Amino acid sequence: MIPYGRHSINEDDIAAVVTALKSDWLTTGPLVEEFEAALEKIVGAPCISVSSGTAALHCAYAAIGLGPGDEIITPPITFIATQATAALFGATIVFVDVQPDTANIDPQAVEAAITPRTKAIVAVDYAGHPADLDELRAIADRHGIFLIEDAAHSIGSIYKGRPVGSIADVTAFSFFPTKNLTTCEGGAVSSIHPDLLLKAKRFSRQGLIRNPEEFIVKGEGPWHQEVHEFGLNYRLPDVLCALGLSQLSRLKDIKRDRDLVFARYVDAFQGSETVTLPAVRTYVDPIWHLFPIRVPPNSREGIFIKLREKGFGVQVNYFPVHLQPVFRKDTDRNQVFPNAEDFYGQEISLPMWPGLLDFDAGIFDAIAKVIRDN
Ligand SMILES: Cc1ncc(COP(=O)(O)O)c(C=O)c1O
Repeated sequence: MIPYGRHSINEDDIAAVVTALKSDWLTTGPLVEEFEAALEKIVGAPCISVSSGTAALHCAYAAIGLGPGDEIITPPITFIATQATAALFGATIVFVDVQPDTANIDPQAVEAAITPRTKAIVAVDYAGHPADLDELRAIADRHGIFLIEDAAHSIGSIYKGRPVGSIADVTAFSFFPTKNLTTCEGGAVSSIHPDLLLKAKRFSRQGLIRNPEEFIVKGEGPWHQEVHEFGLNYRLPDVLCALGLSQLSRLKDIKRDRDLVFARYVDAFQGSETVTLPAVRTYVDPIWHLFPIRVPPNSREGIFIKLREKGFGVQVNYFPVHLQPVFRKDTDRNQVFPNAEDFYGQEISLPMWPGLLDFDAGIFDAIAKVIRDN
């Protein structure tokens, strides 16, 4: 089975990990800061590394002090970590619809959903395509609320010439193996506000404070560290930062390969009347994490099953989150988001990863033929 996503690990990645394993540090050593500095160069704002994309979102919400009574506005087309990490702080999750073509959060719907309790707008860069960040930024600024970006899909993507990570107040990345670069499990938080990044960092490192100038308890020895707010252990170990550093140095190549896969699909589907290809705004340059096509809803399941039978490990991204039982038990289906539900009903994620280029070039036509014949 050719999976819908797969990591790209080369000999340099392996050598980097082996070197780290032979060093004095397995957990927090010099490679953590090195990786974070290298990330900053790509995403355009200071970063901290964490143990997953879920952890990154949890830290982002901790940084803005999310709590009971706060509302966040989110899109339904995402992985549930976008909402789960906020719900665990006691925040109320507000859903709004997505744009019908990109499946990214619709700024007009966001505007309409703002209340005095809204603490943040949370955009998700679906498939790697940045959300409408300028419009969302303007709404957030007008209402004095935060813009959080779930960029689990989009490290390295560019929005109007600016890298994802340098626009929202806080941005969360994932380095899961199917993503654009991997540290096995891993993630990062970037922020354009040093104070928010420090809060995210403390939360990810057990809340520990080691700077004597900030101590409340005085007169302890040089061993002393203290905690003013609870945190968790979301550290990314040195060994995985070694992998991340090596992967980051190849991000350009990874983008080139993902672009090529995208172009091969576009060629393969040329002239197709039943397949809708991913929309691309003129002002973005995404690194594609997914290749989400849309087909007529009455043929989606048949095509999906046929593709899997033929060995193409397709996926559907995503079952709209507002329909998950964890939300439905409260709302009992009194919320309808037509664009999100239509998108879900039509979507199939075709295989998208750099190694596809090592297969026979006919693979893309073969996938297109399975879909055409159904
Ligand atoms: C949109 C989105 N947000 C958050 C996450 C969570 O990332 P991780 O799997 O690294 O915890 C994912 C991962 O699949 C995702 O796709």
